[in-house]
Amino acid sequence: MTTPIGIHDLAFATGSRVLDLSVIAERLGTELEKYTIGIGQERMSITAADEDVVTMGAAAAKQIIDRHGVEGIRTVLFATETGIDQSKAAGVYVHQLLDLPATCRVVELKQACYSATAALQFATALVARDPRQRVLVIASDVARYELDSSGEPTQGAGAVAMLVASDPDLVVIEPGSGVFTSDIMDFWRPNGRVTALVDGKYSIRAYLQAVENAWSDYAAQGGFPISEFSRFCYHQPFTKMASKAHRHLIKTAGGDLDAGVLDAQIAPTLKYNRIIGNTYTASIYLALLSLLDSDEELEGAKIGFLSYGSGSVAEFFAGTVQPGYRQHLRAEENRAVLEARVPIDAAEYLVWHERRDPSGLGEFTLPNETPGPFRLAGFTDLKREYTSTQ
Ligand code: HMG
Repeated sequence: MTTPIGIHDLAFATGSRVLDLSVIAERLGTELEKYTIGIGQERMSITAADEDVVTMGAAAAKQIIDRHGVEGIRTVLFATETGIDQSKAAGVYVHQLLDLPATCRVVELKQACYSATAALQFATALVARDPRQRVLVIASDVARYELDSSGEPTQGAGAVAMLVASDPDLVVIEPGSGVFTSDIMDFWRPNGRVTALVDGKYSIRAYLQAVENAWSDYAAQGGFPISEFSRFCYHQPFTKMASKAHRHLIKTAGGDLDAGVLDAQIAPTLKYNRIIGNTYTASIYLALLSLLDSDEELEGAKIGFLSYGSGSVAEFFAGTVQPGYRQHLRAEENRAVLEARVPIDAAEYLVWHERRDPSGLGEFTLPNETPGPFRLAGFTDLKREYTSTQ
Protein backbone atom coordinates (compact mmCIF):
# COMPACT_ATOMS: atom_id res chain seq x y z
CA MET A 1 0.00 0.00 0.00
CA THR A 2 1.34 3.48 -0.88
CA THR A 3 1.74 6.08 1.90
CA PRO A 4 -1.10 8.63 1.84
CA ILE A 5 0.27 12.11 1.14
CA GLY A 6 -1.48 15.45 1.22
CA ILE A 7 -2.30 18.66 3.05
CA HIS A 8 -1.30 18.36 6.69
CA ASP A 9 -2.08 21.99 7.56
CA LEU A 10 -3.52 24.98 5.74
CA ALA A 11 -3.42 28.67 6.71
CA PHE A 12 -4.18 31.99 5.04
CA ALA A 13 -3.36 35.68 5.24
CA THR A 14 -4.84 38.60 3.34
CA GLY A 15 -4.50 42.35 2.80
CA SER A 16 -5.33 44.22 5.99
CA ARG A 17 -7.68 46.67 4.20
CA VAL A 18 -11.06 45.90 2.65
CA LEU A 19 -13.13 47.63 -0.02
CA ASP A 20 -16.88 47.17 -0.31
CA LEU A 21 -17.83 46.75 -3.96
CA SER A 22 -20.56 49.39 -3.50
CA VAL A 23 -17.71 51.94 -3.73
CA ILE A 24 -16.82 50.75 -7.24
CA ALA A 25 -20.48 50.39 -8.23
CA GLU A 26 -21.13 54.01 -7.21
CA ARG A 27 -18.12 55.39 -9.10
CA LEU A 28 -18.98 53.46 -12.26
CA GLY A 29 -22.73 54.01 -11.99
CA THR A 30 -23.33 50.23 -11.99
CA GLU A 31 -26.12 48.46 -10.13
CA LEU A 32 -24.61 46.78 -7.05
CA GLU A 33 -26.55 43.59 -7.89
CA LYS A 34 -24.36 43.13 -10.96
CA TYR A 35 -21.56 42.41 -8.50
CA THR A 36 -23.37 40.74 -5.61
CA ILE A 37 -25.59 38.54 -7.85
CA GLY A 38 -24.13 38.74 -11.39
CA ILE A 39 -20.53 37.87 -10.47
CA GLY A 40 -21.09 36.84 -6.82
CA GLN A 41 -18.71 39.25 -5.09
CA GLU A 42 -19.25 41.59 -2.12
CA ARG A 43 -15.87 42.88 -0.96
CA MET A 44 -12.19 42.70 -1.88
CA SER A 45 -9.04 42.68 0.22
CA ILE A 46 -6.58 45.51 -0.39
CA THR A 47 -2.93 45.59 0.69
CA ALA A 48 -1.52 48.27 3.01
CA ALA A 49 1.51 50.22 1.70
CA ASP A 50 3.98 47.89 3.43
CA GLU A 51 2.26 44.59 2.51
CA ASP A 52 3.01 42.48 -0.57
CA VAL A 53 3.17 38.84 -1.67
CA VAL A 54 6.14 38.19 0.61
CA THR A 55 4.59 39.64 3.78
CA MET A 56 1.27 37.88 3.15
CA GLY A 57 2.96 34.59 2.22
CA ALA A 58 5.19 34.75 5.29
CA ALA A 59 2.21 35.61 7.54
CA ALA A 60 0.32 32.54 6.27
CA ALA A 61 3.35 30.23 6.54
CA LYS A 62 4.25 31.51 10.05
CA GLN A 63 1.03 29.99 11.42
CA ILE A 64 2.11 26.60 10.09
CA ILE A 65 5.68 26.87 11.40
CA ASP A 66 4.37 28.01 14.82
CA ARG A 67 2.21 24.88 14.96
CA HIS A 68 4.54 22.26 13.47
CA GLY A 69 8.08 23.58 13.68
CA VAL A 70 10.58 23.27 10.84
CA GLU A 71 11.47 19.59 11.17
CA GLY A 72 11.59 17.77 7.83
CA ILE A 73 11.16 20.95 5.76
CA ARG A 74 13.79 20.82 3.03
CA THR A 75 11.76 22.49 0.28
CA VAL A 76 9.76 25.74 0.01
CA LEU A 77 7.71 26.23 -3.17
CA PHE A 78 6.42 29.80 -3.67
CA ALA A 79 3.69 30.15 -6.29
CA THR A 80 2.81 33.63 -7.56
CA GLU A 81 2.02 35.66 -10.64
CA THR A 82 2.75 38.92 -8.76
CA GLY A 83 6.53 38.51 -9.12
CA ILE A 84 8.65 41.09 -7.24
CA ASP A 85 11.97 40.30 -8.93
CA GLN A 86 12.97 38.89 -12.31
CA SER A 87 15.60 36.64 -10.71
CA LYS A 88 15.28 36.09 -6.98
CA ALA A 89 12.47 33.85 -5.72
CA ALA A 90 10.08 35.65 -3.33
CA GLY A 91 10.21 32.52 -1.17
CA VAL A 92 13.84 33.21 -0.28
CA TYR A 93 12.70 36.33 1.63
CA VAL A 94 10.06 34.20 3.38
CA HIS A 95 12.70 31.61 4.23
CA GLN A 96 14.73 34.31 6.01
CA LEU A 97 11.73 35.93 7.76
CA LEU A 98 10.66 32.54 9.17
CA ASP A 99 14.20 31.54 10.07
CA LEU A 100 13.90 28.27 8.14
CA PRO A 101 16.91 25.91 8.04
CA ALA A 102 19.68 26.70 5.53
CA THR A 103 19.43 23.03 4.46
CA CYS A 104 16.48 23.88 2.25
CA ARG A 105 15.76 24.48 -1.46
CA VAL A 106 13.51 27.42 -2.33
CA VAL A 107 12.03 28.12 -5.74
CA GLU A 108 9.27 30.22 -7.33
CA LEU A 109 6.64 28.86 -9.73
CA LYS A 110 4.57 30.82 -12.24
CA GLN A 111 1.65 29.95 -14.52
CA ALA A 112 -1.11 32.44 -13.75
CA CYS A 113 -3.62 31.09 -11.19
CA TYR A 114 -2.56 27.48 -11.75
CA SER A 115 0.97 27.45 -10.29
CA ALA A 116 0.04 26.59 -6.67
CA THR A 117 -1.47 23.37 -7.97
CA ALA A 118 1.78 22.52 -9.76
CA ALA A 119 3.56 23.26 -6.47
CA LEU A 120 1.19 20.98 -4.54
CA GLN A 121 1.67 18.13 -7.03
CA PHE A 122 5.46 18.55 -7.07
CA ALA A 123 5.42 18.56 -3.27
CA THR A 124 3.50 15.27 -3.10
CA ALA A 125 6.10 13.71 -5.44
CA LEU A 126 8.97 14.87 -3.19
CA VAL A 127 7.26 13.43 -0.12
CA ALA A 128 6.53 10.16 -1.97
CA ARG A 129 10.25 9.84 -2.58
CA ASP A 130 11.10 10.44 1.09
CA PRO A 131 8.06 10.34 3.43
CA ARG A 132 10.11 11.88 6.28
CA GLN A 133 10.24 15.16 4.39
CA ARG A 134 7.61 17.87 4.51
CA VAL A 135 7.21 20.59 1.88
CA LEU A 136 6.03 24.14 2.56
CA VAL A 137 3.88 25.36 -0.33
CA ILE A 138 2.98 29.06 -0.41
CA ALA A 139 0.59 30.72 -2.87
CA SER A 140 0.43 34.52 -2.71
CA ASP A 141 -0.94 37.15 -5.10
CA VAL A 142 -2.34 40.65 -5.51
CA ALA A 143 -4.91 40.90 -8.33
CA ARG A 144 -5.02 44.33 -10.00
CA TYR A 145 -6.86 45.45 -13.13
CA GLU A 146 -7.13 48.92 -14.72
CA LEU A 147 -9.58 51.39 -13.21
CA ASP A 148 -12.90 51.44 -15.10
CA SER A 149 -12.10 48.10 -16.78
CA SER A 150 -14.49 45.12 -16.62
CA GLY A 151 -12.01 43.32 -14.37
CA GLU A 152 -11.97 46.07 -11.69
CA PRO A 153 -14.62 44.45 -9.42
CA THR A 154 -12.64 41.17 -9.51
CA GLN A 155 -9.46 42.37 -7.76
CA GLY A 156 -8.25 41.03 -4.40
CA ALA A 157 -5.21 40.00 -2.37
CA GLY A 158 -4.26 36.99 -0.29
CA ALA A 159 -1.98 34.08 0.46
CA VAL A 160 -2.39 30.44 1.45
CA ALA A 161 0.32 28.26 2.97
CA MET A 162 0.13 24.45 3.01
CA LEU A 163 2.29 21.89 4.72
CA VAL A 164 2.45 18.82 2.48
CA ALA A 165 3.32 15.61 4.33
CA SER A 166 2.69 11.88 4.59
CA ASP A 167 -0.31 10.76 6.70
CA PRO A 168 -1.79 14.28 6.58
CA ASP A 169 -4.27 15.59 9.14
CA LEU A 170 -6.56 17.36 6.68
CA VAL A 171 -6.79 16.10 3.08
CA VAL A 172 -5.07 13.25 1.22
CA ILE A 173 -4.26 14.23 -2.36
CA GLU A 174 -5.13 11.14 -4.39
CA PRO A 175 -2.72 9.97 -7.09
CA GLY A 176 -3.72 10.69 -10.67
CA SER A 177 -4.98 13.85 -12.30
CA GLY A 178 -6.26 15.22 -15.58
CA VAL A 179 -4.20 17.98 -17.17
CA PHE A 180 -4.67 20.39 -20.06
CA THR A 181 -2.54 23.13 -21.67
CA SER A 182 -3.42 25.51 -24.49
CA ASP A 183 -1.46 28.59 -25.65
CA ILE A 184 -4.11 31.34 -25.61
CA MET A 185 -4.25 35.06 -24.71
CA ASP A 186 -7.22 35.34 -22.37
CA PHE A 187 -5.31 37.10 -19.57
CA TRP A 188 -1.67 38.16 -19.28
CA ARG A 189 0.59 40.76 -17.61
CA PRO A 190 3.59 41.86 -19.70
CA ASN A 191 6.80 42.72 -17.81
CA GLY A 192 6.68 46.18 -16.28
CA ARG A 193 2.89 46.32 -15.96
CA VAL A 194 1.23 46.38 -12.54
CA THR A 195 -2.24 45.65 -13.90
CA ALA A 196 -3.26 42.60 -15.90
CA LEU A 197 -4.68 42.67 -19.41
CA VAL A 198 -7.70 40.49 -19.99
CA ASP A 199 -10.30 39.53 -22.57
CA GLY A 200 -12.98 38.87 -19.95
CA LYS A 201 -15.67 37.06 -21.94
CA TYR A 202 -13.10 34.96 -23.82
CA SER A 203 -11.42 34.06 -20.50
CA ILE A 204 -14.71 32.62 -19.22
CA ARG A 205 -15.14 30.49 -22.33
CA ALA A 206 -11.50 29.38 -22.13
CA TYR A 207 -11.93 28.38 -18.46
CA LEU A 208 -15.01 26.28 -19.33
CA GLN A 209 -13.21 24.62 -22.24
CA ALA A 210 -10.30 23.80 -19.92
CA VAL A 211 -12.69 22.25 -17.38
CA GLU A 212 -14.01 19.96 -20.07
CA ASN A 213 -10.57 18.94 -21.32
CA ALA A 214 -9.02 18.43 -17.88
CA TRP A 215 -11.97 16.23 -16.90
CA SER A 216 -11.71 14.20 -20.15
CA ASP A 217 -8.06 13.51 -19.42
CA TYR A 218 -8.85 12.66 -15.79
CA ALA A 219 -11.45 10.12 -16.93
CA ALA A 220 -9.07 8.71 -19.57
CA GLN A 221 -6.42 8.27 -16.85
CA GLY A 222 -8.84 6.08 -14.88
CA GLY A 223 -9.85 8.59 -12.19
CA PHE A 224 -12.84 8.28 -9.83
CA PRO A 225 -16.29 8.50 -11.46
CA ILE A 226 -18.04 11.85 -10.98
CA SER A 227 -20.63 10.23 -8.66
CA GLU A 228 -17.91 9.62 -6.03
CA PHE A 229 -17.33 13.34 -5.46
CA SER A 230 -19.53 15.13 -2.97
CA ARG A 231 -17.82 18.57 -2.95
CA PHE A 232 -15.87 20.55 -5.56
CA CYS A 233 -13.29 23.33 -5.20
CA TYR A 234 -12.66 25.59 -8.19
CA HIS A 235 -10.33 28.44 -8.99
CA GLN A 236 -12.58 31.42 -8.19
CA PRO A 237 -11.73 34.69 -9.99
CA PHE A 238 -15.26 35.58 -8.82
CA THR A 239 -17.56 33.11 -7.13
CA LYS A 240 -20.13 32.96 -9.93
CA MET A 241 -17.35 31.50 -12.11
CA ALA A 242 -17.30 28.45 -9.83
CA SER A 243 -21.05 27.97 -10.39
CA LYS A 244 -20.59 28.22 -14.17
CA ALA A 245 -17.61 25.84 -14.12
CA HIS A 246 -19.38 23.36 -11.85
CA ARG A 247 -22.48 23.14 -14.03
CA HIS A 248 -20.24 22.66 -17.05
CA LEU A 249 -18.19 19.92 -15.39
CA ILE A 250 -21.22 17.97 -14.22
CA LYS A 251 -22.83 18.27 -17.65
CA THR A 252 -19.61 17.07 -19.31
CA ALA A 253 -19.15 14.21 -16.86
CA GLY A 254 -22.79 13.12 -16.95
CA GLY A 255 -23.69 13.86 -13.30
CA ASP A 256 -26.85 15.12 -11.55
CA LEU A 257 -27.77 18.59 -12.89
CA ASP A 258 -30.42 19.37 -10.24
CA ALA A 259 -29.83 23.03 -9.24
CA GLY A 260 -30.11 22.30 -5.49
CA VAL A 261 -27.58 19.46 -5.71
CA LEU A 262 -25.14 21.58 -7.72
CA ASP A 263 -25.43 24.45 -5.24
CA ALA A 264 -24.87 22.20 -2.20
CA GLN A 265 -21.72 20.76 -3.80
CA ILE A 266 -19.98 24.16 -3.98
CA ALA A 267 -21.77 26.70 -1.72
CA PRO A 268 -19.49 26.25 1.34
CA THR A 269 -16.40 26.79 -0.84
CA LEU A 270 -17.51 30.28 -1.92
CA LYS A 271 -17.71 32.10 1.42
CA TYR A 272 -14.15 33.37 1.81
CA ASN A 273 -13.55 34.26 -1.84
CA ARG A 274 -16.80 36.24 -1.96
CA ILE A 275 -15.41 38.72 0.57
CA ILE A 276 -11.68 38.53 -0.31
CA GLY A 277 -11.82 38.71 -4.12
CA ASN A 278 -9.51 37.08 -6.62
CA THR A 279 -6.29 35.85 -5.01
CA TYR A 280 -5.12 34.18 -8.23
CA THR A 281 -2.94 31.16 -7.25
CA ALA A 282 -4.29 31.05 -3.70
CA SER A 283 -7.96 31.17 -4.68
CA ILE A 284 -8.69 27.42 -5.07
CA TYR A 285 -7.01 26.67 -1.72
CA LEU A 286 -8.97 29.47 -0.03
CA ALA A 287 -12.01 27.65 -1.43
CA LEU A 288 -10.80 24.50 0.33
CA LEU A 289 -10.26 26.39 3.59
CA SER A 290 -13.73 27.90 3.33
CA LEU A 291 -15.16 24.38 2.85
CA LEU A 292 -13.24 22.82 5.74
CA ASP A 293 -14.12 25.76 8.04
CA SER A 294 -17.85 25.39 7.27
CA ASP A 295 -20.26 23.62 9.62
CA GLU A 296 -20.50 20.57 7.38
CA GLU A 297 -19.21 17.17 8.50
CA LEU A 298 -16.81 16.12 5.74
CA GLU A 299 -14.91 13.11 7.11
CA GLY A 300 -14.23 10.72 4.23
CA ALA A 301 -15.70 13.11 1.65
CA LYS A 302 -14.10 13.07 -1.76
CA ILE A 303 -13.41 16.57 -3.11
CA GLY A 304 -12.90 17.33 -6.79
CA PHE A 305 -10.39 20.14 -7.45
CA LEU A 306 -10.38 22.10 -10.69
CA SER A 307 -7.44 24.46 -10.99
CA TYR A 308 -7.32 26.94 -13.90
CA GLY A 309 -4.62 29.44 -14.81
CA SER A 310 -5.08 31.71 -17.80
CA GLY A 311 -2.83 31.38 -20.76
CA SER A 312 -3.67 28.48 -20.07
CA VAL A 313 -3.12 25.38 -17.90
CA ALA A 314 -5.76 23.40 -16.00
CA GLU A 315 -5.80 20.32 -13.79
CA PHE A 316 -8.50 18.16 -12.21
CA PHE A 317 -7.57 16.00 -9.22
CA ALA A 318 -9.13 14.42 -6.15
CA GLY A 319 -8.68 14.84 -2.40
CA THR A 320 -10.13 12.86 0.52
CA VAL A 321 -10.96 14.58 3.81
CA GLN A 322 -9.31 12.79 6.73
CA PRO A 323 -10.93 11.45 9.94
CA GLY A 324 -10.56 13.92 12.82
CA TYR A 325 -9.73 16.85 10.50
CA ARG A 326 -11.93 19.20 12.53
CA GLN A 327 -9.57 19.10 15.51
CA HIS A 328 -6.95 20.82 13.37
CA LEU A 329 -9.04 23.73 12.08
CA ARG A 330 -8.98 27.36 13.19
CA ALA A 331 -12.25 28.58 11.69
CA GLU A 332 -12.92 31.23 14.35
CA GLU A 333 -9.45 32.75 14.04
CA ASN A 334 -9.80 32.79 10.26
CA ARG A 335 -13.14 34.59 10.40
CA ALA A 336 -11.70 37.05 12.92
CA VAL A 337 -8.88 37.95 10.49
CA LEU A 338 -11.46 38.76 7.83
CA GLU A 339 -13.56 40.82 10.26
CA ALA A 340 -10.48 42.76 11.44
CA ARG A 341 -9.72 44.22 8.00
CA VAL A 342 -9.96 48.03 7.94
CA PRO A 343 -12.60 49.36 5.52
CA ILE A 344 -11.31 51.95 3.04
CA ASP A 345 -13.27 54.61 1.15
CA ALA A 346 -13.25 55.67 -2.50
CA ALA A 347 -10.38 58.17 -2.08
CA GLU A 348 -8.16 55.65 -0.22
CA TYR A 349 -8.92 53.03 -2.86
CA LEU A 350 -7.77 55.36 -5.65
CA VAL A 351 -4.52 56.04 -3.74
CA TRP A 352 -3.95 52.27 -3.47
CA HIS A 353 -4.71 51.80 -7.14
CA GLU A 354 -2.26 54.50 -8.24
CA ARG A 355 0.49 53.04 -6.07
CA ARG A 356 3.39 51.67 -8.09
CA ASP A 357 6.33 49.57 -6.96
CA PRO A 358 8.82 52.20 -5.68
CA SER A 359 11.81 49.83 -5.84
CA GLY A 360 13.21 51.69 -8.87
CA LEU A 361 13.66 54.83 -6.74
CA GLY A 362 16.73 53.33 -5.07
CA GLU A 363 16.20 54.59 -1.50
CA PHE A 364 12.63 54.55 -0.23
CA THR A 365 10.96 54.11 3.16
CA LEU A 366 7.39 52.83 3.38
CA PRO A 367 4.86 54.00 5.99
CA ASN A 368 4.33 51.64 8.90
CA GLU A 369 0.74 50.45 8.29
CA THR A 370 0.36 46.68 8.49
CA PRO A 371 -0.94 44.95 11.63
CA GLY A 372 0.68 41.73 10.31
CA PRO A 373 3.81 40.00 11.61
CA PHE A 374 6.05 41.13 8.70
CA ARG A 375 6.41 44.29 6.65
CA LEU A 376 8.20 45.62 3.62
CA ALA A 377 10.12 48.45 5.29
CA GLY A 378 11.53 49.98 2.12
CA PHE A 379 14.32 49.81 -0.43
CA THR A 380 18.03 50.56 -0.23
CA ASP A 381 20.23 50.43 -3.32
CA LEU A 382 17.30 48.79 -5.16
CA LYS A 383 17.20 46.01 -2.56
CA ARG A 384 13.94 45.12 -0.80
CA GLU A 385 14.11 45.24 2.99
CA TYR A 386 11.66 43.12 4.95
CA THR A 387 11.37 43.19 8.73
CA SER A 388 9.47 41.45 11.48
CA THR A 389 7.02 43.67 13.39
CA GLN A 390 7.04 41.55 16.56
P1 HMG B 1 -18.75 42.41 -17.53
O1 HMG B 1 -18.64 42.18 -18.98
O2 HMG B 1 -18.72 43.82 -17.08
O3 HMG B 1 -20.06 41.79 -16.95
O4 HMG B 1 -17.60 41.66 -16.75
P2 HMG B 1 -21.33 41.14 -17.68
O5 HMG B 1 -22.06 42.17 -18.46
O6 HMG B 1 -20.94 39.87 -18.38
O7 HMG B 1 -22.18 40.77 -16.38
C1 HMG B 1 -21.71 39.80 -15.50
C2 HMG B 1 -22.91 38.99 -15.01
O8 HMG B 1 -23.71 39.86 -14.20
C3 HMG B 1 -23.80 38.47 -16.12
O9 HMG B 1 -24.27 37.22 -15.70
C4 HMG B 1 -24.94 39.47 -16.12
O10 HMG B 1 -26.16 38.94 -16.64
C5 HMG B 1 -25.05 39.78 -14.65
P3 HMG B 1 -23.98 35.91 -16.58
O11 HMG B 1 -24.58 36.14 -17.91
O12 HMG B 1 -22.48 35.78 -16.71
O13 HMG B 1 -24.57 34.80 -15.79
N1 HMG B 1 -25.68 41.07 -14.34
C6 HMG B 1 -26.55 41.24 -13.33
N2 HMG B 1 -27.07 40.40 -12.42
C7 HMG B 1 -27.94 40.90 -11.50
N3 HMG B 1 -28.33 42.19 -11.46
C8 HMG B 1 -27.84 43.08 -12.35
C9 HMG B 1 -26.91 42.62 -13.34
N4 HMG B 1 -26.24 43.21 -14.35
C10 HMG B 1 -25.50 42.25 -14.95
N5 HMG B 1 -28.23 44.37 -12.29
C11 HMG B 1 -16.20 39.76 -16.36
C12 HMG B 1 -17.61 40.31 -16.27
C13 HMG B 1 -16.11 38.48 -15.58
C14 HMG B 1 -15.90 39.49 -17.83
C15 HMG B 1 -15.20 40.79 -15.79
O14 HMG B 1 -15.40 40.97 -14.41
C16 HMG B 1 -13.74 40.46 -16.05
O15 HMG B 1 -13.20 40.74 -17.12
N6 HMG B 1 -13.03 39.86 -15.01
C17 HMG B 1 -11.63 39.49 -15.14
C18 HMG B 1 -11.45 38.21 -15.92
C19 HMG B 1 -11.94 36.99 -15.19
O16 HMG B 1 -12.09 36.98 -13.99
N7 HMG B 1 -12.14 35.89 -15.95
C20 HMG B 1 -12.57 34.63 -15.37
C21 HMG B 1 -12.06 33.41 -16.13
S1 HMG B 1 -10.26 33.48 -16.39
C22 HMG B 1 -9.61 33.07 -14.82
O17 HMG B 1 -10.30 32.64 -13.95
C23 HMG B 1 -8.15 33.32 -14.62
C24 HMG B 1 -7.81 34.58 -13.83
O18 HMG B 1 -8.03 34.39 -12.45
C25 HMG B 1 -6.34 34.97 -14.10
C26 HMG B 1 -5.26 33.91 -13.89
O19 HMG B 1 -5.40 32.75 -14.18
O20 HMG B 1 -4.17 34.34 -13.49
C27 HMG B 1 -8.63 35.78 -14.25
